Amino acid sequence: MADQKKEIKINSKYPSVTDLRNRAKKKMPKFAFEYLDGGCNEDINLDKNRSDIQKVELMPQYLSKFDKSDLRTELFGHTYDAPFGIAPVGLQGLMWPNSPEILAKAAAEHNIPFILSTVTTSSIERIAEITEGKSWFQLYHPAEEKVKRDLLDRSAAAGTDVLVILADVPTFGYRPRDVRNGLAMPPSMSVKNIIEVFKKPDWAIQTLIHGQPAFKTLEPYMPKGLNLKKLGEFMDATFSGRLNEERIASIREQWKGKLVIKGVVSEEDTEKAISLGVDGLIVSNHGGRQLDAGQSTIVPMTHLAKKYKDKIKIMVDSGLRGGPDIARAMASGAEFTFMGRSFMYGVGALGKEGGDHTISLMKREFQQVMEQVCCEKVGDLPNHIINK
Ligand SMILES: Cc1cc2nc3c(=O)[nH]c(=O)nc-3n(C[C@H](O)[C@H](O)[C@H](O)COP(=O)(O)O)c2cc1C
Repeated sequence: MADQKKEIKINSKYPSVTDLRNRAKKKMPKFAFEYLDGGCNEDINLDKNRSDIQKVELMPQYLSKFDKSDLRTELFGHTYDAPFGIAPVGLQGLMWPNSPEILAKAAAEHNIPFILSTVTTSSIERIAEITEGKSWFQLYHPAEEKVKRDLLDRSAAAGTDVLVILADVPTFGYRPRDVRNGLAMPPSMSVKNIIEVFKKPDWAIQTLIHGQPAFKTLEPYMPKGLNLKKLGEFMDATFSGRLNEERIASIREQWKGKLVIKGVVSEEDTEKAISLGVDGLIVSNHGGRQLDAGQSTIVPMTHLAKKYKDKIKIMVDSGLRGGPDIARAMASGAEFTFMGRSFMYGVGALGKEGGDHTISLMKREFQQVMEQVCCEKVGDLPNHIINK
């Protein structure tokens, strides 16, 4: 497409996220794949995200005048090449070695946002270098003020565009697969997991090349040479995920750039965020990994976008798996969308080609929907929604 700077290349063996997921399942050790793929408790919320978004229907207009579709979308003063970005994911290097770097590079080349998690395996500085300071940073709220200030200073010094504070992990989600696999906090490397690693030679070789995954952003605050049990204790002591108005106000005061809260789903929290000067919300339920009894995200997002669109940017994630889902979310009123698992499936399936491939796939699919329904501008998608 003429407006897109990066060429769209798709590996024809894996033309959908389902293909990527199937391939990733074969290539990743079981404990890593299940950590990525699963939800919490009985996966009710995970499944609800999918089923509710699939209910959104679009109306095509085949006889209207049409020139071409332009996927570019403006957000926080930046024009991105498409209305989707890469959500923050922790422990990425454990799922596929070097994956935060692979995804950040692909995101920068495709001019879409990449959000770095506090607890992933690359540092703020390394990702800033790869993306030329265009990445976003997701902050898990540290217990110590000093650590918080330092993380914000480092993000600002690295040129981070947008700071995302996480609201929906006041406590770690209960995920039976991770408990079974020894991936709960503190993590453990059981004999079963070690055997799994030997069964996945590509993963093992890539891990040898790139080294054991480590919490790179957090290294300056960690005592050296922690064993796995001590690492778990350190993580528990360092992060106190529960947000409150005071904490947000204090971050707002220190952070001069755009500020986003991720995980808010209620009117009450949205009004608090607006009153505290927050610039945007990612309506999210952590991909169904935290509250099995919770709502999907498309339902509250549609409501919040209608009510608060003029006061705060409303974005969404959780359960989106391709171009039609991006279109459904944008037509329902979102100003931008994010995906977590889809991109990690891409890297798990295709290694260093996975970022470019998955972004290309999303762009291709999304563009097809835009052309099919006869929509030239992303902002006009709400005109095509049926079940308003
Ligand atoms: C394996 C995994 C790890 C995640 N780690 C984080 C994290 O460290 N910080 C965060 O804000 N969200 C994290 N999330 C949530 C994602 O940012 C995002 O909300 C979610 O993946 C969206 O749902 P989707 O996977 O269905 O696209 C994680 C999600 C997954 C699947």
